[in-house]
Order: sequence, then C-alpha cells, then structure tokens
Amino acid sequence: MNSAKEIAEEIKKKLPIKDVETAVILGSGLSGFAQILEHQQSLRYKEINGFPQTSVSGHKGELIYGYIGAKEVLCLNGRFHLYEGHEPQTIAQVIRVLKDLGIKRLIITNAAGSLRKDMAPGTLMLIKDHINFSGKNPLVGANDEIYGCRFPAMNNAYPEHLREKCKKIAEKLKISVKEGTYFMVLGPNFETAAEVRAFGILGGDAVGMSTVPEVIAAVHCGIEVLGISVITNYAAGLVNNTPTHQETLEEADKASLRMSALVTEFIKEEE
Ligand code: HPA
Repeated sequence: MNSAKEIAEEIKKKLPIKDVETAVILGSGLSGFAQILEHQQSLRYKEINGFPQTSVSGHKGELIYGYIGAKEVLCLNGRFHLYEGHEPQTIAQVIRVLKDLGIKRLIITNAAGSLRKDMAPGTLMLIKDHINFSGKNPLVGANDEIYGCRFPAMNNAYPEHLREKCKKIAEKLKISVKEGTYFMVLGPNFETAAEVRAFGILGGDAVGMSTVPEVIAAVHCGIEVLGISVITNYAAGLVNNTPTHQETLEEADKASLRMSALVTEFIKEEE
C-alpha cells in the first residue's frame, strides 16, 4: 500500500496546489458544490495510485481542486463508507493524504435521518458532537506518531468557534440551521423502529452511515472539523415511514443549493 505521503506527492505532481488549507467532503447527493469551484481541475480517484475507489451510486470518486474567491479548496466528491467494505484504516489514510497536502480545516457534509419529530427533512444540522455506534475505529492498529497520539481526546471534535461562525453566516444568508448530535451506524440497512427509538434516547439527533471515521482521523492529526448534515428523511418508523436511498438522494439534492451557499460563504470568510 502506498503511504499517505507518497499519495500526496503524486497528487501534487498532477494538480497545481500552492497553499491549500481547506478540504470539503461531499455527502450523498451533495455534489453540486463541486461545480462552484473556479479554475477547477480534477483527478479521478482511479488516476491516483494507491487511492481507494468508491462504489455507491450518488458517490462519484474524484478529487477536485479549485478556488473559491482567493482561497484554494480541495473537494472529495465521493467518500468511503465502511458498509462498502472499506477498512476504517483506509479512511484514515485518505484524511492523512489531506493532512500531507496542507489541509488544516475539513468541512464534512452528509445525508442523515432525523431522530427527532421536530427536525423535518430539509433541515441543515450543524454537527456539535457524535456517537460512534459503528463498532469500528480508523485509529485501530499501530499508531503513527507523525500524525497524532495514541489516545486522542475526542470531546472537542467539532470546535465551537467554527460552528458559531457558520451560524452567523447562515443568519446572514437567511438559511435556517439547527445543531445536533450525529449518531453513526455501520449500515447498510436503514434502522429498525426500535433502534431509532433507542438512538434518540441515547442522545442522537440524526442517524447516518458516514462521517465519524473521517472526523476521528482528522481530529487525531490536528485537522479542525465543521460537520453539516442534511436531514433527508425521518428515521425509520419515527412517523410511520420507510426510508429509501432514492428519497435521501432527492432530499439532499433539494438542499444542495442552501448547503453549497453556506459552505461557499464559510470558506470565503476564512482568515
Ligand atoms: N439512516 C441512516 N443513514 C441515513 C439515513 C437514515 O435514516 N438517511 C440518510 N442516511
């Protein structure tokens, strides 16, 4: 397997990266954001030696480099889910490639099911914390001290200053946002009604099958994270409903413009 450093070096040979500090990981149906990048150039994951490949429909598999105003941005359009069979360590490696490319801030978006009747589909939810119920962890195995310590703290994974800044921008743009705890399951099946009740009691506000491995790996290596969920559906049984992947894609697509506007302005206003 190629090291993260080797993969980063190869990417630098193929893209004219100068000083990139922000990366965005796009969730299901949210790839519209990628079109906003100016002067963009992309590499398919297939073109990058040692880079893992994605498989789910709605997830493309390309690394896009470009500008928002004067800011360089890297965008991962297509992510790696544990339910596809990817090892959690593979996800850590992708994050470390970003670290080796100079990334200091990671904006992660996803689609998630609401665990609260008062949080309807279409809501944008800033992630203030997470519960890792996947049973997996990207940091399992020998620790690479170059990236971070053996036992990293995870209680400030989504720093308040980034969420506060995002809330201010949302207010300015008149985009309504809520805040909540993201509850990660392994998937790929949607939850049972009993699980949905249990996850709500445990403190989750939204349930999804991604994001947490990336966040753990990012926090480990000192990358700050802003996480935003698009609530695409009520979680199974919450309102007597049965979720489908199609529904999540359609709802994510509807929210895509708002999500893109929020992320774009957030990046523009970075110091
Ligand atoms: N459950 C799990 N993952 C999801 C859901 C859900 O209801 N919606 C979008 N991703």
